[in-house]
Amino acid sequence: MSFAAHIITAYPDMFPGPLGESLHGRALADGLWHMQTHDLRGFGAGKHQNIDDTPAGGGPGMVLRADVAAAATDHVTAQADMPLILPSPRGVPFSQSLAQEWAQGAGLIFLCNRFEGVDERFIEARQPLEVSLGDYVLAGGEMAAMVMLEAVLRLVPGVMGKLESGADESFSEANHGLLEYPHYTRPQDFEGRDIPDVVTGGDHEKLAAWRRAQAEAVTQSRRPDLWAAFLKGKSDAAGGFKRKKG
Ligand code: ADE
Repeated sequence: MSFAAHIITAYPDMFPGPLGESLHGRALADGLWHMQTHDLRGFGAGKHQNIDDTPAGGGPGMVLRADVAAAATDHVTAQADMPLILPSPRGVPFSQSLAQEWAQGAGLIFLCNRFEGVDERFIEARQPLEVSLGDYVLAGGEMAAMVMLEAVLRLVPGVMGKLESGADESFSEANHGLLEYPHYTRPQDFEGRDIPDVVTGGDHEKLAAWRRAQAEAVTQSRRPDLWAAFLKGKSDAAGGFKRKKG
């Protein structure tokens, strides 16, 4: 069974968008994943098929109606038993480990919202997982769903070939949760800058040690949060066997 991406949106024409190109486009054509959009407007309420309304209690913008969100998601969850994701700046942070976890499953359902928010009663009743890309506000959930899908789909078995292996990259376990080391390719001389000798020297042990040092240095300077987690992991591992029982 190929990986299923269900997208509930008022703008189905946005998909597959960039996911129809390159690695993911080829995988889509090869049937490694498939996509189904569900037009939110088709679940709208009343004669005018309204999907949103003004916020109760006042305030800016519009709110996605709970009954509409529920009708759309119930329609999809009835045919697909998989996590329901609500992209939202209020969500838990998206991460490589979430991408890895989701890539092992049968697929994902995204509810994309273009409004100020979704009626909280829908969230209480259907309990989607609210996931955020970062501390900034997008105009809608569609681009966020695409970003998450791009990160997940490349980890779906068969999508990446050996050449594009995801094993030893930023945030990966093989890379100890560090940012990735620098990469080089031809030409040997770029505007007077050579590829470091250690990279082309052929000593694999030396190169591995150099890459590790580079990964540590870039992580320490750019991401103090990841660096602290790395140091904690190291000290936990070192202290683990010393702990006494009882
Ligand atoms: N929708 C609007 N802003 C978002 C964000 N930062 N992450 C995920 N979904 C969003």
